Amino acid sequence: MIPVLLWFLFQAAPLMDLPNVTENPYAAAADIALGQKLYKGRCAGCHGLTGDGGKGANLAVRDLPRAQTEQALYRVVRYGIPETEMPATLMAPREVWQIAAFVRSLGSASQDATRGNAAAGEQVVSAKGGCLQCHAIGLKGGRMGPALSDIGGKRSPGHLRGKLLDPAADLVDTFRLATVTTKDGRKITGVRLNEDPFSIQIRDFSDGIHSFFKEQLASVHVERRTTMPSYKGRLSAAEIEDVVAYLLTLRGNVQ
Ligand code: HEC
Ligand code: HEC
Repeated sequence: MIPVLLWFLFQAAPLMDLPNVTENPYAAAADIALGQKLYKGRCAGCHGLTGDGGKGANLAVRDLPRAQTEQALYRVVRYGIPETEMPATLMAPREVWQIAAFVRSLGSASQDATRGNAAAGEQVVSAKGGCLQCHAIGLKGGRMGPALSDIGGKRSPGHLRGKLLDPAADLVDTFRLATVTTKDGRKITGVRLNEDPFSIQIRDFSDGIHSFFKEQLASVHVERRTTMPSYKGRLSAAEIEDVVAYLLTLRGNVQ
């Protein structure tokens, strides 16, 4: 009887251990200060010190789409967002709450992250900027860069602006220029779609996809360089802000 009961208890145990509260129990000024320290070490690398830089989503906003309640924010910080770059972290509940309190303070401190005009930005992206040569947005566009269809929910205005002004400064992991040489002497250059310890996939400049086991290769050379051009000087400061404003609206909602 007892083993059966134990088994049942284990099965019934919730996979996630979510506190059953509607308010953050650790949101005093001292908690926010401790949360800021923890945030600096664990989150700022991706989200930037003030929440609006780096490769992480913009946290310096009033409404976090995936963390609208305190409990949802707790869940995101503790367990991450599955199938995205947002990782889970092992922390005591109290620390999770303190970071959460700090994240909320970023939102209330922020002014409008961009003053751009999204409709004008859309024009720049499809015409003057030539972005669709390389990037897909919805069903339109090319494939030599990452699709931008949900970029607004994924990245901060700081990262987007940086990408336009100095694209090599903050490279994403995929779509790097790569050259592989096979053991029989063929050389293939293109953008790297994927790589793991055993294999690599490359899209060449005529849209062909090549997939290799590394044991077939004499060398793999991935450059810390991007094919994305810098738009500094090619677009005005106002146009850059317009493009950022437009990119921020892309949240998997375009056809
Ligand atoms: C390795 C980079 C990385 C680290 C480290 C990281 N994040 Fe994230 N985070 C992301 C990315 C990328 C997203 C957007 C995920 C997506 O939708 O693709 C995200 C999303 C979020 C969201 C949801 C935002 C929204 O719009 O709803 C919150 C909140 C968040 N992160 C908080 C944190 C906190 C707090 C920490 C530190 C404990 C942290 N993140 C650490 C990359 C990171
Ligand atoms: C000649 C091809 C090319 C053009 C044109 C181009 N890009 Fe890119 N872009 C890339 C490649 C390749 C990457 C991925 C490597 C990297 O991080 O730079 C990239 C990365 C990005 C990223 C980062 C994606 C992420 O997940 O963080 C953004 C944002 C972006 N481009 C926006 C634009 C916009 C907006 C334009 C037009 C104003 C543009 N790109 C024009 C090739 C291009």
